[in-house]
Amino acid sequence: MELKRLGPGFVAEVRGAGLVDVARDNAIYRLVRAAFEEHSVLVFRDRKITDELQVAFSRRFGPLETAKAASLGEGTPFSILTNIDRATGTLVPPDHKEALRARANQLWHTDSCFKVPPALASVLSARVIPRTGGETEFASLRGAWERLAGPMQARLANAYAWHDYAHSRGKIAPHLASDREKTALPPVCWRIRWRNPVNGRDALYIASHTYAIEGMRRDEAQALLGDLIGHATARGQTYLHRWQAGDVIMWDNRAVLHRGRPWPDNEPRHMVRTTITATDADGLAEMWPVQGAA
Ligand code: SIN
Repeated sequence: MELKRLGPGFVAEVRGAGLVDVARDNAIYRLVRAAFEEHSVLVFRDRKITDELQVAFSRRFGPLETAKAASLGEGTPFSILTNIDRATGTLVPPDHKEALRARANQLWHTDSCFKVPPALASVLSARVIPRTGGETEFASLRGAWERLAGPMQARLANAYAWHDYAHSRGKIAPHLASDREKTALPPVCWRIRWRNPVNGRDALYIASHTYAIEGMRRDEAQALLGDLIGHATARGQTYLHRWQAGDVIMWDNRAVLHRGRPWPDNEPRHMVRTTITATDADGLAEMWPVQGAA
């Protein structure tokens, strides 16, 4: 197996090892796992991906989430991100719920920080891609933490932030998160710094879902969160992936932000995501608010 670095200090392409090898072979799994811990985003090019293979690969890394209430794929391991109407095969209009959800995915975020437990990793496969646009862009939250000045690191090291799915959806359309989704996904609080237990490196754990910092006025917290996301995603610090059909990308939700990029409304885009749940072995044990903090 070979790794080719692609991004500004994170992201590597995996060559010479297939998803099927990771699914079947312990030694190859361990190599890819180590690369994941080190590089945060792994790109596998031109794979013959199927739903079964994506699940078998993803399961090696931990338990899988079931797709959330009211999403395409609800109750299965697959989150379907598509503008193709399954019943008719035609493209949905720009004001359709799935088109608005795609716009919400174009906000910088980390998957499932609004869930308990949150996600360790996501695996996204490109099934149908538009001729232009529709890229996915990544920014390192580990790099962001490491570039923060010492006093800001000290201020945030033991801070806790609140995350809410409805908060980020509300930035796109007021009722994009339905009552059923809000009930299924109440706000959750996590430490703002996620330490990787394998290499001890810290990452800033925030996203467009984050709406408050414990002990801070809401307006001050939102201004600081905006500044921190701007800092994490500054020009020159991101990696833009231009998809080819069959590409598969795995990323570390503890350590990167990502966002989809727009594409023309008259072009189809169909992506399938599996999401791996974080466990205490992934550093989750330190993320819970200590008594009195939240
Ligand atoms: C996602 O937010 O999980 C997917 C991003 C994309 O559609 O490129």
